[in-house]
Amino acid sequence: MALGRRRLTAMLGDTFFIGSSLMPPDNPSRPAANGTIARQHAVYSAGLAGHRPLLPTNAGALEAAAEHVLSPKAFAYIAGGAGAEQTLTGNRAALDHWQIVPRVLSDVSTRDTSISLFGHRYSQPFLLSPIGALELVHGEADVAVARAAAAAGVPMIFSNQASRSMEDCALAMNRVAAGAPRWFQLYWPKSDALAESLVTRAEACGCHALVVTLDTTLLGWRPRDLDLGHLPFLLGQGIAQYTSDPVFRSLLADTPDDRGRPPINATTLRNVLATARHFPGSSLKALTSGQALAAVRQFVATYSRPNLTWAGLAWLRERTSLPILLKGVLAADDAQRAVEQGVDGLIVSNHGGRQVDGAIASLDALVNIRRVLPDLPIVLDSGVRGGADIFKALALGADAVGIGRPYAYALGIGGENGVAELLANLATDFELTMALSGCADIAALRDGTERMTRT
Ligand SMILES: Cc1cc2nc3c(=O)[nH]c(=O)nc-3n(C[C@H](O)[C@H](O)[C@H](O)COP(=O)(O)O)c2cc1C
Repeated sequence: MALGRRRLTAMLGDTFFIGSSLMPPDNPSRPAANGTIARQHAVYSAGLAGHRPLLPTNAGALEAAAEHVLSPKAFAYIAGGAGAEQTLTGNRAALDHWQIVPRVLSDVSTRDTSISLFGHRYSQPFLLSPIGALELVHGEADVAVARAAAAAGVPMIFSNQASRSMEDCALAMNRVAAGAPRWFQLYWPKSDALAESLVTRAEACGCHALVVTLDTTLLGWRPRDLDLGHLPFLLGQGIAQYTSDPVFRSLLADTPDDRGRPPINATTLRNVLATARHFPGSSLKALTSGQALAAVRQFVATYSRPNLTWAGLAWLRERTSLPILLKGVLAADDAQRAVEQGVDGLIVSNHGGRQVDGAIASLDALVNIRRVLPDLPIVLDSGVRGGADIFKALALGADAVGIGRPYAYALGIGGENGVAELLANLATDFELTMALSGCADIAALRDGTERMTRT
């Protein structure tokens, strides 16, 4: 006769099963706990029932698993960097050069990984950095990420190049957890009216902060994409913030003619049809009215603003009361100038090595900038892959870190569940690293105790 679950538990005893989760959760790929080491317990308990996690926990294995499931073009777009990808590898090398010096006999029985930024308390010291064109990796794209982020309480930074509008993502987040934290990232377009409209929408969506990305006024030279002749935006992918914007839609009538028409063949036609499918509403109407192709051309015309200068910041400052962070600042002088212009914080980032090949590693830039600006809120991204990286960045002066490629890979592998699992893994990995290094909370990382050494 089959033994009942309760009787079986009693027979085998609680000590054999770590914690109380004998059986895997209903959906074993969905983490039972948000952060906290309960995640570690849940994985081992589920393993007793033969279940394996959805994602590899190792960052390199995660990337390899994503390569396996993604199309070559999608993988190239996510994984690739500029030029010889020296910046890409340099980000990792800079993190690897630093080593943690764990301290013992500090009471870490209760732990607090929460941080405060711009008056908001977040349960983890990491955010989701903006990633565009996520429809390349998963049909639900940004909305799946939004749901997982909301469930975990991790702030999601909506990309200006998102595949779903910020309104759709905000709604999806609110359904999971009303008011779940979100920020908006702006690529400053040529049209000031469009910039203003995007900022107003971000405020209406309940964003806590505005991130202005400054390192992408032109697209970097990216060999992996160039070799495949692939840029998602030209297929209407990653332009949802534009096609959902009333000002952008009003610009469509004045769209410049296409001077660089590709040769017409079966592939061109297939791509034109795909572009129409990405335009909101009826694909047939988008195709026959010419609006879908006009949207792509208008996006190309308006996206890039290489003439942006410091003077522009005052214009933006007047138009929003949201905290403004500049993303892509790497020089200490630029950081100081940003503060003089009333900027509230920085995301120290080299765009994951996608823009300037041979650029300074983000972590090295962080150290330089923190030296001259001890109190400025700083988020670091580019190269962060696990709990030890988060610890190192925080110990060297970051207030939080941004997670980039890993969540795109997790999305490609497991959709919303994949992102949820990644966030739980990161939270647990960080909490364990923090505790095992002798810190009960984030303040301890910077309390003057020697915690880091450089090789
Ligand atoms: C595929 C991809 C798309 C990205 N899209 C954007 C974007 O739309 N806006 C932005 O500010 N940064 C964008 N970034 C940069 C990320 O926000 C972040 O700076 C970078 O991913 C950090 O490097 P890492 O992924 O190696 O950690 C993108 C990065 C990747 C990999």
